[in-house]
Amino acid sequence: MASDPARRAVSIQADPAGRLPGQAMATSHAATDGEFRAVGQAGPAGQTGSDGQTAAATVSSPAAASPAAASPAAASPAAVGPAPVIRAVGLTLSFGERDILRDISLDIRPGVVTALLGPTGSGKTTLLRTFNRMNDKVTGYRHAGDVLLDGDSIWQSGTDTMALRRKVGMLFQRPNPFPMSILDNVVSGVRAHRLAGRGQLREIAERRLREVGLWDAVSGRLKDSPFRLSGGQQQLLCLARALAVDPEVLLLDEPTSSLDPVATESIEALLRTLIPQLTVIIVTHNLAQARRVADRTIFLNKGRLVEHGDTQQVFENPAEEETAHYVSGRFG
Ligand SMILES: Nc1ncnc2c1ncn2[C@@H]1O[C@H](COP(=O)(O)OP(=O)(O)OP(=O)(O)O)[C@@H](O)[C@H]1O
Ligand SMILES: [Mg+2]
Repeated sequence: MASDPARRAVSIQADPAGRLPGQAMATSHAATDGEFRAVGQAGPAGQTGSDGQTAAATVSSPAAASPAAASPAAASPAAVGPAPVIRAVGLTLSFGERDILRDISLDIRPGVVTALLGPTGSGKTTLLRTFNRMNDKVTGYRHAGDVLLDGDSIWQSGTDTMALRRKVGMLFQRPNPFPMSILDNVVSGVRAHRLAGRGQLREIAERRLREVGLWDAVSGRLKDSPFRLSGGQQQLLCLARALAVDPEVLLLDEPTSSLDPVATESIEALLRTLIPQLTVIIVTHNLAQARRVADRTIFLNKGRLVEHGDTQQVFENPAEEETAHYVSGRFG
């Protein structure tokens, strides 16, 4: 089931079955970010309140534990599975007394798109927001177990959440541009992290806006408020902002749920161009979208991780009856 991620990533880009043309101009709505809340911007709803930032259990040697790393075929780079970018180990997530997800262990492969599926309320958003510690300050949120990013616990003492969110960016279902100009939005993270000098900012903004297909629509009004853009354009702006800091992982929570088909297609096409440099985890209720864009698929249900495998296998030959029911549209 587990084929080589690097090869698979290439096949994603070239896959004609995806029916995705190259990057297109998009004009719809989108959702974004999170990673720059630490810059002093208001975050999305649900960020306030405090939580006894539960200390995570320490977990040892994630990279060395990669099954592929132990393979005798290690001499051939093509046969070696790279270490997971994100690894959840015995992760239980709760709000108050209620466990939302229990004992989740999973590896997210680098350089591929992973779809996170499950019925409403199954904990997809909670899991996604845990990966860059967006839930830490939500009232009642608790975690046990651990999440490792490139082998290190995201909760280890001294972890800078701003730096974490630079590495693990996020797009929300609804766009959340910052109250500053379009140009300043795109480069806000670049500025905050001092990734470039002032003289480079406009060029960076242009490159990122072109990348998401928004340049032609906004090039004449870079100093304008983003709130006059359409919802879809705002979403693309937030995507440009998220990409501008060169994240390692991009978390997408139903990013196209309010988009028209053309804009959805352009986002999906863009995802393909970002792979394999970027690792993407996308929550979607759109099963066809998961099949189109995702290399790997995870299915959550009733507080458990039911199945995790190659997308084709999960959809066409699911190991679990529950998964079969869900992917055939019989519930959820
Ligand atoms: N801040 C919170 N406080 C208390 N309970 C919460 C909080 N956020 C989420 N929950 C609960 O956690 C469970 C999982 O929610 P979550 O948003 O992760 O589900 P989801 O799979 O993303 O659902 P959907 O597909 O509808 O977006 C739900 O029962 C929800 O009510
Ligand atoms: Mg959700």
